[in-house]
Amino acid sequence: MDSTNIPSLNNLKIENGEIKTPFLIGVAGGTASGKSTVCKRIMEQLGQTEMDQEQRQVVCISQDSFYRDLTAAEEAKAKKGLFNFDHPDAFNEELMYNTLTMLLKGKIVEIPTYDYRTNSLIHDKKQTIYPADVVLFEGILVFYFPQIRDLFHMKLFVDTDSDTRLARRVPRDIKERGRDLDQVLNQYMTFVKPAFEEFCSPTKKFADVIIPRGADNTVAIDLIVHHIGEILRPGGLSATPINANINVTGKRRD
Ligand code: ADP
Ligand code: C5P
Ligand code: MG
Repeated sequence: MDSTNIPSLNNLKIENGEIKTPFLIGVAGGTASGKSTVCKRIMEQLGQTEMDQEQRQVVCISQDSFYRDLTAAEEAKAKKGLFNFDHPDAFNEELMYNTLTMLLKGKIVEIPTYDYRTNSLIHDKKQTIYPADVVLFEGILVFYFPQIRDLFHMKLFVDTDSDTRLARRVPRDIKERGRDLDQVLNQYMTFVKPAFEEFCSPTKKFADVIIPRGADNTVAIDLIVHHIGEILRPGGLSATPINANINVTGKRRD
């Protein structure tokens, strides 16, 4: 791809005189199934991780950035591990939809970073997301909301068995998310597991590709990387919106 970037105009990403619109890939799966790791591998294999944000052809957004702000009472509950972060109501669906549609219209967006230690969004630490060629959007419930689900051009579901997921979640949450063992296990039994069964697992049927064993499945990751490589190739297929009532034309890039 010719990467002569003209700086953004009116918050639009312009490349070679055209508004740039991304191919949007959703990556769902249970907690600790390896969604973030799979996305990281995809980015690495496509040589994206060392690039400046603005030069990247592939960018990744996490659904965590769309947790809604909690009330004081909810915050107190969350501190004790008594808030359900696995329920669809924990997310700001409207903001998620608006952000993705803005990206699909070629707009540059800013999203907050999420801090698991304080259970809150860091609004003054924003990440700028450029529409790029491919946008990965990963999270437990990215296929739950019908309007959002319909925006994806490709849907992947990372399917890792639940024992493995729990065995990975416990050390991760203790080391990286400031939790203790009792809290992780209680939260898992009270909220995470039931919500996975009720809200996340049923969305597997919407996936185009199911990736068993997550990041261990190098064959699946290679196939996806190859497909994305085709999208990035000059003249390769670019985005055509699926069921989305937004004005983005599907056309070949030359
Ligand atoms: P998710 O984003 O789905 O919650 P992560 O990618 O964060 O999952 O993975 C959960 C934890 O398991 C992390 O600590 C990660 O480093 C680890 N992990 C992920 N995939 C593997 C794997 N294939 N082998 C070993 N550890 C893994
Ligand atoms: O990366 P992963 O998919 O595991 O992130 C989603 C998980 O993060 C959910 O299962 C939820 O229980 C957990 N979470 C949390 N504390 C928060 C926000 C999310 O434990 N403050
Ligand atoms: Mg993750």
